[in-house]
Amino acid sequence: MSVLTTTNIDHYCVFGNPIHHSKSPLIHAMFAEQTGQVIDYQTRLAPLDGFVETVRMFIAEGGRGANVTVPFKLEAFTLANQLSQRAQMAGAVNTLSFVDGKIIADNTDGIGLVRDITQNAATPLRGKRVLLLGAGGAARGALLPLLQEQPALLTIANRTLSKAQELQNVAQALSFADVVAKSWQQLDEASKQSFDVIINATSASLQSEVPPIPAHVFASTSLAYDMMYGDTVTSFNRYAQQCGAKTRDGLGMLIEQAAEAFFIWRGVRPDTTRVLAHFRTKGSV
Ligand code: ATR
Repeated sequence: MSVLTTTNIDHYCVFGNPIHHSKSPLIHAMFAEQTGQVIDYQTRLAPLDGFVETVRMFIAEGGRGANVTVPFKLEAFTLANQLSQRAQMAGAVNTLSFVDGKIIADNTDGIGLVRDITQNAATPLRGKRVLLLGAGGAARGALLPLLQEQPALLTIANRTLSKAQELQNVAQALSFADVVAKSWQQLDEASKQSFDVIINATSASLQSEVPPIPAHVFASTSLAYDMMYGDTVTSFNRYAQQCGAKTRDGLGMLIEQAAEAFFIWRGVRPDTTRVLAHFRTKGSV
């Protein structure tokens, strides 16, 4: 008998490198306790050149599912036998289910972002003007769930304009017309328009940098959302606050993407409000 199936507990994990900092085990333990689900959820450090082997080992041990984080989301996409539409659109995978010898993959990051904005921050996106900053993996993962909320306009601005245009093309291929691609400079030159929601999907905050966007994109009623989070206010949110906007960091997105993964695996939706309140300390709406 394999290692993990010697108990009646269903086993899950998160693969990453590094992974020791992950909040996911605690989040899923709280979800499990709340919903009466009997699961075990651990971190698994995968070697940078050994992701596939580490996943196969976990499956062989009887693992039921897993989350995938940096830097393996693209490899997980390639490994999957079956991809959800969200995963296909994102080009990356953060949730795996191991069912009947198959690896079924999804991406819950974008829906996690949208739920945190629309439900937890009570900020509807329908009919709103949305500015998405960045055109890498994080922005691409958010694209479909954002468009499904039917904003009046989605402007994608990026340091490298061609990458923003690629995302614009992806959106237009899905018949989402009101998507505009801009460079930082074009954003500055545009009419002094503000946006209802400004989402930072660049990795600039990791280097304590702020994309050079003009202050006029923020209004006092705008919600500025940084997908990053930390113990202190992120550099992007500090700038947005100086420009008079309300701010929110990505902690709620982290918890909502986990909740969607939990739902995929267990068919039960946890109450994220209580878990978010537990983790929330400062600096956000
Ligand atoms: P992730 O998976 O976090 O999205 P990524 O795919 O490497 O990472 O994408 C990083 C994004 O952050 C890109 O949009 C990148 O801009 P470029 O496409 O021009 O490279 C953006 N980015 C990274 N550092 C930045 C900085 N200091 N200022 C502004 N944008 C930055």
